[in-house]
Amino acid sequence: MAGPIILETIAALRAWRSERRAAGKRIGLVPTMGALHAGHLSLVTGVKQAADEAVVSIFVNPTQFAPTEDFSKYPRTFDRDVKLLAEVGAEAVFAPHVQDMYPSGFATTVSLDGPAKVGLEDAFRPTHFAGVATVVTKLLLQALPDVAIFGEKDFQQLAVIRRFVRDLDIPSEILGGTTIRETDGLALSSRNVYLSPEERAVAPTIYRVLQEAAELVRKRQPLDRIEIEAAQALAAAGFAVDYVAIRDALSLAPPYAAADPKRLRLLVAAKLGKTRLIDNIAAV
Ligand code: PAF
Repeated sequence: MAGPIILETIAALRAWRSERRAAGKRIGLVPTMGALHAGHLSLVTGVKQAADEAVVSIFVNPTQFAPTEDFSKYPRTFDRDVKLLAEVGAEAVFAPHVQDMYPSGFATTVSLDGPAKVGLEDAFRPTHFAGVATVVTKLLLQALPDVAIFGEKDFQQLAVIRRFVRDLDIPSEILGGTTIRETDGLALSSRNVYLSPEERAVAPTIYRVLQEAAELVRKRQPLDRIEIEAAQALAAAGFAVDYVAIRDALSLAPPYAAADPKRLRLLVAAKLGKTRLIDNIAAV
């Protein structure tokens, strides 16, 4: 099985992309930070339903980590990642160096509002989305893909990306990929490797609590009470809860009390020991 071509510079990516476009191929981009799991691989499969060839970027982006966060210990498994990408038929891997993405004197940041400022992840990671938006803007402009895909697991991130891509007229279609879960319901995440065996056993509680809360939303129970009770259930299981929120699925703003459950998304962020987990599901 031929593996993907490895592109280490922006010039190499652009040359590959021009050559494939000249050959009439639609290009799909899958931005990742590596440490790939089945969730990422499903994004490759997903983008290839809308494009002929997939380029997967692997770049642990320093600007989206706060100084207190896990940038230095974020798992880096490049050789294994490339093997997995060969198995799902990715055509190219873009693995730029930090100094190429952020050359000395780099001074530009994408500034955000709207879904980036709704008091969810932004309340706990205030510099995170500016870093994500800046690197994703760069990746989209470097690869100029016809389509790019991001996992729904990071639901606020997906909403933020959709909004700035629209606002900045970046000519790529943005797709969302369904969250892939372990059999016990835990959403796949590169950070799950940080969980101790005891924490790993408790972690699926998030999905169970989300499902129970969604059931209450469908029964039209008061949304604020559902949020409080879900947060209490997580705290009782040992989580330090950052938020449990029921939001409008498009704007991520708090919904009207009588909002149609079909428009609602339930979102959770909570820490188990030192590991911060996020998850979300649709109410219907
Ligand atoms: O979701 C991620 O893995 C990252 O935030 C992304 C989109 C690759 C940007 O670094």
